[in-house]
Amino acid sequence: MNTKTSILILYYSSQGATQKMAELIALGVESISNVTAKLRTVPSLHQSQTPNTASSLMVTRDDLLSCSGLILGSPTRFGNISANIQHFLESTLDIWLSGQLIGKPAGVFTSSSTLHGGQESTLLSLLLPLLHHGMIVTGLPYHHPELHRTQTGGSPYGPSHVAGTQGDQPISKDERALCMAFGKRIATIAMRLNSQEGSHT
Ligand SMILES: Cc1cc2nc3c(=O)[nH]c(=O)nc-3n(C[C@H](O)[C@H](O)[C@H](O)COP(=O)(O)O)c2cc1C
Repeated sequence: MNTKTSILILYYSSQGATQKMAELIALGVESISNVTAKLRTVPSLHQSQTPNTASSLMVTRDDLLSCSGLILGSPTRFGNISANIQHFLESTLDIWLSGQLIGKPAGVFTSSSTLHGGQESTLLSLLLPLLHHGMIVTGLPYHHPELHRTQTGGSPYGPSHVAGTQGDQPISKDERALCMAFGKRIATIAMRLNSQEGSHT
């Protein structure tokens, strides 16, 4: 039985909004005792876009292989995944071939500048490679009251944040609660799966 539960929160952020979400999700993960959150980022493909994540650690292959669950975050880019995240995902072919992520819980999150600028298409696109990897994907159930009342981000497909056209919109109370609830949810699922031998289905 694997008793150590660690959730990899892997994201890209150029202006800091997705990173702030990742940090809140980590708080939710670590609200579950004996579960740790590991925050990691990916390199930027664009020299003109210096990521706001210089202090963050770059993901390694071992981070992915050793995690008990994965939470993947990307800014919305033309209604889609950031190329930086996509580039990293395309380096995981051998991990897909060996099936080493099969059965691990996973979920996704995003930040965009506008409310109807493609958050849901980005979240759904982020889920596709995780399904190919055989991960057990989960979103946010509607029993969270914030999903009913949010005026900005937050969806059943995963947490989201509307950062505004200047990128300076603070994370709302509802967005924040949903980030924390999401971290807690994936941590709880990972913990339960970890405590069951032979959960690699
Ligand atoms: C190339 C590019 C494409 C973008 N496409 C969209 C978009 O389709 N919809 C949207 O609302 N915001 C879009 N944005 C804005 C970002 O999604 C938004 O600023 C996000 O909060 C950035 O996250 P970050 O602060 O973690 O980098 C785009 C930004 C860039 C640079």
